[in-house]
Amino acid sequence: MSLTESELKKYLNAALDISQAGGNILKQYWGKISDICQKDHKSDLVTEADKASEEVLIAAIHSQFPSHGILAEESGLIKNRDNEFLWVIDPLDGTTNYTHQYPFVCVSVGLLHRDHPIIGIVYNPITEELFSGAKGLGAKLNNSSIHVSKTSTLEKSLLSTGFPYDRNVNKDNNYAEFATLTNLTQGVRRAGAAALDLSYVACGRLDGFWERGLQPWDVAAGIVLIEEAGGKITKYDGSTFDIYNEKILVSNGIIHQKISKALLQ
Ligand code: IPD
Ligand code: CA
Ligand code: CA
Repeated sequence: MSLTESELKKYLNAALDISQAGGNILKQYWGKISDICQKDHKSDLVTEADKASEEVLIAAIHSQFPSHGILAEESGLIKNRDNEFLWVIDPLDGTTNYTHQYPFVCVSVGLLHRDHPIIGIVYNPITEELFSGAKGLGAKLNNSSIHVSKTSTLEKSLLSTGFPYDRNVNKDNNYAEFATLTNLTQGVRRAGAAALDLSYVACGRLDGFWERGLQPWDVAAGIVLIEEAGGKITKYDGSTFDIYNEKILVSNGIIHQKISKALLQ
């Protein structure tokens, strides 16, 4: 059974509060990081801000929704993935940026109901930009409704992408795709926080975004924003995407097929 509008609003408001708590932690630690650790790859970092933000987010979810499942970047799966409700959270998206005080960073909080993403919050506490969306209720940047762009050609488009952490050792490192689309468009940005890239497509600053090797917590919130802002989300080949897939392509819908074709050539 699907949720009522008032139930969706309840979860949206809760997700806004929860994200705010994580964002406050990122503000507190901004410029004060002393503990930077490498994970499996040398460019995959974790700091005390990631850990503290995640702790606060999990505590906030537990206190309001003790029965809900959580999938969090640093802690993994807490409770069952088959839970009716699953929160999918990235406590700090853009950790490398964060350690350099490059202010393209955010908290990403998504909520799935029976595997369908229904709520998405992407909050950049440094620029105070809060992207929010709920299934069927639209998407907003702070208090204004947002919509994807109307750009209809690749020549006039601005895109974004990212490069996987195994780029040094895996030939599927996105360098060829980056070169191809750089030549076909006005430019391809690589800003380093996938949840914000998705949000920027949702609000029309970017016309499209693709990346290989993202994780559920990078995309769960952002895809709600894209859907609610009128955009399109697929795998590279145009087939149906879910948050556990390896390759994501999002766009304003109009240039989707053109990007897909360029990625597959
Ligand atoms: C990373 C960012 C980056 C993307 C990486 C992600 P993190 O997340 O979203 O843009 O290229 O694949 O892992 O590690 O900063 O949370
Ligand atoms: Ca991330
Ligand atoms: Ca992260």
